[in-house]
Amino acid sequence: MATSFVLKGDIAFNKDANTIQTFPNGYLVCVDGICKGAFQALPEEFCNLPCYDYSGKLIVPGMTDLHVHAPQYTFRGIGMDLELLDWLTQYTFPEEAHYADLQYAKKAYRYFSDDLKRTFTTRAVVFATIHNESTIELMDQLEKTGVVTYVGRVNMDRNGDENLQEDSAGASLKGTMEWLKEINGRYQRTFPILTPRFIPSCSDELMRGLGEMAQEQGLRIQSHLSENRSEIAWVKELVPEADCYANAYEILGAMGEEERPSVFAHCVYSDEREMEILKKHHAFIAHCSDSNMNLSSGIAPVRKFLEQGISVGIGTDVAAGSSMNMVKEILNAIQASKMYYRLVDDTVKALTFEEAFYMATAGGGAYFGKVGTFLDGYEFDALVLDDSNMASMRAMSVRERVERMCYNDADLFILKKYVQGNLTFSRTE
Ligand code: GUN
Ligand code: FE
Repeated sequence: MATSFVLKGDIAFNKDANTIQTFPNGYLVCVDGICKGAFQALPEEFCNLPCYDYSGKLIVPGMTDLHVHAPQYTFRGIGMDLELLDWLTQYTFPEEAHYADLQYAKKAYRYFSDDLKRTFTTRAVVFATIHNESTIELMDQLEKTGVVTYVGRVNMDRNGDENLQEDSAGASLKGTMEWLKEINGRYQRTFPILTPRFIPSCSDELMRGLGEMAQEQGLRIQSHLSENRSEIAWVKELVPEADCYANAYEILGAMGEEERPSVFAHCVYSDEREMEILKKHHAFIAHCSDSNMNLSSGIAPVRKFLEQGISVGIGTDVAAGSSMNMVKEILNAIQASKMYYRLVDDTVKALTFEEAFYMATAGGGAYFGKVGTFLDGYEFDALVLDDSNMASMRAMSVRERVERMCYNDADLFILKKYVQGNLTFSRTE
């Protein structure tokens, strides 16, 4: 259904990575699901559209969670004293094995989908598990949330758990083809993405097969890259001919290309060489600082990625990240970058608030096309937020209020969430 209307309120969005533009008590116009821009005075041509008055409330772009594991949602916040490889074998793989049971998946994915609806997230790139039926159940549920997603049925044919590993590369590829066939034409806003878990989980044959499938069918790929030191050492052993982790994906044909860019989560240890490969393939980096701190993985040099012109968005990486709260994730990204500057390399300046807000909105949004800001022609993804319970002794500018809500969202309420012009969530008292 075509949707055209005007929202009135305190509007803020990134004009570019370094600038947040604001319109206090301004107007935001949506015509047929597309943003026509923000204005201080409503242009004549839009005066006949219905106008919803949110005076005194903040209106900001919806946020993109560029990396999140749906089946891990229900065990978020536990096992957090472990590092990556132990956390995967002790918590993650045994939990994901339960998704062989469709009834289990139905219930657990209901928790995920219901909670996702209530978050700041309007777009997400999601990992499921190796199970076709459960993945389709997740996609069915996500379609109904209104959030636009890429969802991946995971591939793993080695180094899994006794109950979480496919029999062979051939079986994994066949299962993936069957999944794609079954969902073909089924959704409007839920798209498949090929999902080799990471190099240690996928034989060369499987990774190559997925790279070929992506190319033949014009599909995108998501995976993990250079997250943890032990993982990186392991990848060196597994693909000795590669000169770095990204080169291993490149050799196996899974780095993607401009028309179908890949998403790689983490890149904590990506050096000049790895950045060159990411850039060459137009890959997106999902920066997951909450996860990287929880699993003591390290701090990604995000400023360097931005300077190199690499596309960077923010991922919650639930359950290594302990919540789906993108606003908290903006704060984590800023704070981690401040510690990188102070403790690791003082030539790499900390992220500014503008840059971090940009990454969470327009930076990750770019993975979905013209998404994540309120410039003319962008898809209309917007959040109406109530920050009126945050006491202060003076009037704040809109820019100050947006920064404040990211540093402390305890009293912040999402009143409305619009995706592609559709109202997908409304707060009930
Ligand atoms: N690397 C491979 N699988 C995973 C996962 O599920 N979470 C994280 N954080 N890293 C991974
Ligand atoms: Fe992850």
